[in-house]
Amino acid sequence: MASSPTSSTSVESLLKENRIFAPTGAQAAALGGAAVSSVDEYKAMHARSIADPSGFWGEVAQDFEWFTPWSSVLEWHCPDARWFVDATTNICHNAIDRHVLDGHAHAVGLIWEGEPQAHGLPEIRHLSYGELLDEVSRFANALKSLGVVKGDIVTLYMGMVPELPIAMLACARIGAAHSVIFGGFPAPSIVDRVLDAKSRVIVTCDGAWRRGSVVPLKQNVDEAIALLSAQAHNVEHCVVLKRTAQEIPWNAARDQWWHDVVAHASTDCACEAVDSEDLLFVLYTSGSTGKPKGIRHTTGGYMVYTAFTARMTFNLKPNTGQVFWCTADIGWVTGHSYIVYGILPNRVPTLMYEGAPNFPAEDRFWEIIERHRVTHFYTAPTAIRAFMKWGEEHPKKHDLTTLKLLGTVGEPINPEAWIWYHEQIGASRCPIVDTFWQTETGGHVITPLPCVTPTLPGSCTVPFFGIDAAIVDEHGTEMPANTGGLLVIRKPWPSMLRGIHGDRPRFIETYWSRIPGMYLAGDGARRDERGYFWIMGRVDDVINVSGHRLGTMEVESALVSHASVVEAAVVGMPHEIKGTGIAAFVTLGPGGTPSDALKSELREHVASVLGAIAKPDMIRFTNALPKTRSGKIMRRLLRDIAAGRDSKQDTSTLDDLGALAALRGNDE
Ligand code: WTA
Repeated sequence: MASSPTSSTSVESLLKENRIFAPTGAQAAALGGAAVSSVDEYKAMHARSIADPSGFWGEVAQDFEWFTPWSSVLEWHCPDARWFVDATTNICHNAIDRHVLDGHAHAVGLIWEGEPQAHGLPEIRHLSYGELLDEVSRFANALKSLGVVKGDIVTLYMGMVPELPIAMLACARIGAAHSVIFGGFPAPSIVDRVLDAKSRVIVTCDGAWRRGSVVPLKQNVDEAIALLSAQAHNVEHCVVLKRTAQEIPWNAARDQWWHDVVAHASTDCACEAVDSEDLLFVLYTSGSTGKPKGIRHTTGGYMVYTAFTARMTFNLKPNTGQVFWCTADIGWVTGHSYIVYGILPNRVPTLMYEGAPNFPAEDRFWEIIERHRVTHFYTAPTAIRAFMKWGEEHPKKHDLTTLKLLGTVGEPINPEAWIWYHEQIGASRCPIVDTFWQTETGGHVITPLPCVTPTLPGSCTVPFFGIDAAIVDEHGTEMPANTGGLLVIRKPWPSMLRGIHGDRPRFIETYWSRIPGMYLAGDGARRDERGYFWIMGRVDDVINVSGHRLGTMEVESALVSHASVVEAAVVGMPHEIKGTGIAAFVTLGPGGTPSDALKSELREHVASVLGAIAKPDMIRFTNALPKTRSGKIMRRLLRDIAAGRDSKQDTSTLDDLGALAALRGNDE
């Protein structure tokens, strides 16, 4: 079994990791030169960005077009940041219009490949900046005609089709915000998010292609709308893009086809001048308690930071034949920042793929790289571990020589996977950037600069410009080198979250109260004697399953909502492919009898509430959960049991030692 970065063995192996991969001149040449000339220059620039953030970011922001200038770069009253104060701009203008105005209307901005391969070849679309401008403007006018105004939040629940970024940019264009919901979420997850955002307009597709089958998006939306009306929330309009063309339920008073609403819409729609601090989007992510929280990102700071990180971390250069492919779904922050908002302003084509990596076969990604001459490939460790398992014969079938840079994101990468990626995909020649960041940070916060920062497998290396990252103890005191502690960021940065939608107390409580004055990331980490960061995993009740964040409480509530379950405790466990898998300890009520059939039923039940990613990998039935005298579930003990480790924990405080014995004996 590959060592999991969250298991204790892998922390030991990370501590021992000392293979250094120094940047080479050939790598820099392939990428048209490094973004900064040396580690010393990085250090000097970083020091300046921390000492004088206004000077530093004021200069970076000059590369963007603003409709009115800022009166000051930053106003900081912890935890409230305002960046580019009083300035107005529009991110859509900087992502698209500006390229058209600069004479690049015919350059390709978006490359899209569909999943089905009807006659051997998939559907492919190349959208130029000029075409994007027309499509976005048309849909922006369509949204206006549906009554969407500045300040509204439009919900987008779509597959990976070009119309998703088009809809996002259309919202931005008219000053409305969007809330993208991952297409893999079922109806109950839509309900919570639509209600929280008070969305009156939902944009969806009839269906989405996934591994050869249709995900019934429109049906899920209808189910959600019915549940919402029961809670007195009225969704006024549902715009449906035709993609999979199966029969779908239709409500003529509410539903309209995308092709109909754009048919007569004008391609003329001026960008709204929005305030730098106007809401760009809300994106829901799991926390340790309660329902997912809507992370708020605003316009100016997010625009500057995501495009600048993309340029520096991926060494993006327009007009040099680069093709950037991020394999994330746009339903997650990685897709928001590094398929859409961070890439388009750099005028490098961004590639979007609709479907699964193993459809119709395990070489699909490598086929895509070969077909589109991809130069930059950005994916997650969980995907890399799956590629490893599928075998190197798959990438070997394809010409991957166009690749110049590889990236990873989402979870700690185990050194074995790093080395495999380096050798099998990067042919030992491409730099790898292991980028650490979060929905809350908006963009990369700890990452190597390619061709500059020497890399060590498993380390996300050094803080990006403007990021004052540190490892501290409970009191905010910095830890000595190589000592684990809490990861914090001590200064504001442009794309930091501006809050949790509608929940100021939770915003303060989650990020700012445990160590006053510092942003608490929720990850444990250590910094080595070189100053490199090594992320050790979440320190809260969030688990990172295949790079997707899940709150253990969400899964517990989903389990308890099943009629036969009275109590459930969920913890992470090492998993060969997913990094962390989900282990559930379940106590049944009088009506429930432990059985394999019930286990499958519970898995399906969780999927119907939270989506397939939340399905427990292991379920154990138990008569009682081990608890402390004060009634707290002993999660550390459960984690040890789930990992098959012998618990060294003092169990004398266990109220029910029988429960412990039963859990240990009751194997899957
Ligand atoms: C984890 C994804 C180690 C971490 C962009 C973080 C990582 C959470 C890395 C955020 C990395 C992300 N190395 N761990 N390079 N990147 N993480 O909000 O636990 O979906 O807190 O954002 O993923 O997940 P989120």
